[in-house]
Amino acid sequence: MTTAYQKALDTLQAQPRRWLVTGCAGFIGSNLTETLLGLGQTVIGLDNFATGHQYNLDEVRDTVGAEAWARFTFIEGDIRTLETCRQAVQGVDYVLHQAALGSVPRSLNDPITTNEVNVSGFLNMLVAARDAGVKSFVYAASSSTYGDHEALPKVEDRIGRPLSPYAVTKYVNELYADVFARSYGFESVGLRYFNVFGKRQDPNGAYAAVIPRWVAAMIRNDDVTINGDGETSRDFCFIENVVQANILSALAAQAGRNQVYNVAVNARTSLNQLFGYLSTALGENGVHYAKAPVYGNFRAGDVRHSQADISKAGSLLGYAPQYDILQGLQKAMPWYVRFLG
Ligand SMILES: NC(=O)c1ccc[n+]([C@@H]2O[C@H](COP(=O)([O-])OP(=O)(O)OC[C@H]3O[C@@H](n4cnc5c(N)ncnc54)[C@H](O)[C@@H]3O)[C@@H](O)[C@H]2O)c1
Repeated sequence: MTTAYQKALDTLQAQPRRWLVTGCAGFIGSNLTETLLGLGQTVIGLDNFATGHQYNLDEVRDTVGAEAWARFTFIEGDIRTLETCRQAVQGVDYVLHQAALGSVPRSLNDPITTNEVNVSGFLNMLVAARDAGVKSFVYAASSSTYGDHEALPKVEDRIGRPLSPYAVTKYVNELYADVFARSYGFESVGLRYFNVFGKRQDPNGAYAAVIPRWVAAMIRNDDVTINGDGETSRDFCFIENVVQANILSALAAQAGRNQVYNVAVNARTSLNQLFGYLSTALGENGVHYAKAPVYGNFRAGDVRHSQADISKAGSLLGYAPQYDILQGLQKAMPWYVRFLG
């Protein structure tokens, strides 16, 4: 049976489009850019290298090859400048807006910059995309929007109070997107990502995500610190599932637009389990880590458990994740070992 995703890929290959990927030098943006270029699409990339890297773009160039790379145009610029956003959306069919400052702790340390980028920058992108009449606008929302709502699995229309400035900014994105649909008829799709992982996710710095941070520590034979008792759980989502959700959203039929969707796999992995999975996957790639984890304090602003109901994205977009956490780790691990080893 042909899946909705396969149909979408066939459609794009038969009739290539022009895409804008904001945050293209970051983890998710660079993976979106790589896939789109591989599908024969034209891609404009916008990034200011706040947390992204030129070497991510270099790796995309080397992976896709010269012919595909010739269809990529990079704009180094900041979404906090409206004119830059207007320039980037010119002639674009689909926008995949990923540029933002991620990380709950970063937002607790510097809520002002997080707000400027994630709220004012987002609003600039919405205005620019609306005025340019793009066909669709897909943006990175976040599972942090569930805040202190305890029910599991998380269902899109039941959210709690935000637990961090970051979560506020991502929820405000959804509110603006909804108001733009009602006030101007400009519809968009928000994707609430749940703990994405995969190649090119930054292992460095104070705000690194748990999987690349631990993998890097294990490769160096450093201690791995688990925040809290290790029973905190997450619905870890491999990057290829996120790419699928973005492409399906960009091509969504009317019923799928002006919506917010969970993007994950509907599974729950505790940090203790994750530690075991990473040790095993590293072992299979020749890295043997024998230390026990060190347990530290719980981290402020973190939700305790997270697991997504993904039936809405399944029924309205045809989203069907192709990778669970173990399949994703198996695919990602050789990259980490090569990159960090
Ligand atoms: N990785 C996850 O698990 C996760 C989970 C939920 C939501 N998200 C969201 O997904 C998006 C992508 O996240 P990521 O993990 O790839 O992070 P990332 O930090 O790797 O990528 C973000 C990119 O945006 C760029 N950027 C930041 N500020 C900018 C600005 N002012 N102007 C232009 N570019 C700017 C950065 O330089 C970087 O390349 C973000 O919106 C993030 O909030 C990610």
